Amino acid sequence: MVIGVLKCTEENLVALVPKVVAKYIKSDYEVWVEKGAGLASNYTDQQYEEAGAKIVSREKIYTASIIATVSGIEINEIKQFNPEAFVVGKFNARVDSPLLTALKNSGLKAFSLDLLPRSTIAQSMDVLSSLASLAGYKSVVLAADHFAGYLPMMTTSAGTIPPAKVMILGAGVAGLQAIATAKRLGAMVDAFDVRSAVKEEVESLGAKFIEVEGAQEDKGAGGYAVQQSEEYIAKQKELIHETALKADIVITTANIPGREAPLLIEERTVKAMKAGSVIVDMASASGGNVAVSKDDETVKVEGVTVIGDSKLHNHMGTQSSFVYSNNIFNFLSFVMKEGVDNIPYDNEIVANTLLVPVKEAVVA
Ligand code: NAI
Repeated sequence: MVIGVLKCTEENLVALVPKVVAKYIKSDYEVWVEKGAGLASNYTDQQYEEAGAKIVSREKIYTASIIATVSGIEINEIKQFNPEAFVVGKFNARVDSPLLTALKNSGLKAFSLDLLPRSTIAQSMDVLSSLASLAGYKSVVLAADHFAGYLPMMTTSAGTIPPAKVMILGAGVAGLQAIATAKRLGAMVDAFDVRSAVKEEVESLGAKFIEVEGAQEDKGAGGYAVQQSEEYIAKQKELIHETALKADIVITTANIPGREAPLLIEERTVKAMKAGSVIVDMASASGGNVAVSKDDETVKVEGVTVIGDSKLHNHMGTQSSFVYSNNIFNFLSFVMKEGVDNIPYDNEIVANTLLVPVKEAVVA
C-alpha cells in the first residue's frame, strides 16, 4: 500500500510528520509526501527523506492507494484521484459545503475524522480533541499577551496586584485546557457549561463552575451539548453579563455540532466590560459566541480586544501536525488491521467517519 500525503493550503497542518513515517514503513506502507507539504508546520522535505519517505509532486499523490490530507483539496482535483483510493482528512463534515458534496459524489471511500464517535476506543484517533486541547492552551496565552495586565497575584513593596479574573464559556476539551492553563498562570477562573457532567472536572481544576438552572441535556447527543430553551438562554446571558463585568479575560469555546454556535456574549456586555480586557472567541468560524467577534480578525470595542480565531492550533503547526499525524496513523491502523479487503464497515468508527456508506456497510 502507498500512502500519499497532500500539502494543506488552508491550515498549518500536515497529515504526516517525519517522526511518524517510520510507523508506516514498519507496517509495510510505502510513503509519499508532496513536495513542501510540511513546511508550514516546520518540517523540511529533507527530514521526510531521512525518515524514509519519497518526496513527489502533488499529481503523483493522486495515484496513491491512501490519500491523507487535512481539509484543503480542490474540487476539480478529486476527479484525478485513483478511483480505488481511500481519502482521509477532516472535512468539517457536519456542515454542507461544495467540497463535501464533491467527495460524497466521487465514489471514493472518503473518511472525515471530525465525525469520529467520542468513545474511549476512538480517543487515540480523535483529531478534534487533539487540536482543541492545543487550541485551549493557546487561547489563554494569546489573551494574556493582549491583556493590559498581569495574571497571577503579585505582592510587591509598591502594593499587591490581585490575580486576573478569567471567564471560560464551554468546558469541553478546549475549555478544560484553557481553565488548566489560566490556573497555571495564577488567574482566578469561572467556567460555564450547559452539560452538568463537567462540573466535577471544572472544580477539580480549581475553577468555579457557574451553574444556570434548567439546562437541557440529551444522552443521545453523544456527549455533545444541545440547543437550549429561550428562557435558559436569557437567564444564562444575564449571568454571563454579570460575570463578564468583573473579568479581565474571557475565552469562549461553546459549540453545538452542525449548528451555529450559541451567542453567549451580547454587544452590551462587551461594551460594559473593563477597558484593557480581552475576549478570545474560539467559535468564530461557526457564527461566534460573541456578538462583535469576526472570524480571523481582532477588533477593538471601547477598549476591549476581541479576537476571533477558531483555528488556534494553526499557531502551533509543529505540535498540531504531530498529534494529527498520530491520530491519522491510529485510525488507519484500526481500519486496515485485517487488510484492505476486510475493512470493518459495520464498526461504528468506520461507519461514522465514512462519508458515503459502502453497499455492504451496516450503518446506524
Ligand atoms: P464542543 O467543541 O462541541 O463544545 C465545547 C463545549 O461547549 C462543550 O462542553 C459544550 O457542552 C459547551 N456548550 C455548548 N453550548 C453551550 C452553551 N450554550 N453554553 C455553555 N456551554 C456550551 O465540545 P468538545 O470539546 O468537542 O466535547 C464534546 C463532548 O465529547 C464532551 O462530552 C467531551 O467530554 C466528549 N469527548 C469525549 C472524548 C472521548 O471519550 N474520546 C474525547 C473528547 C471529547
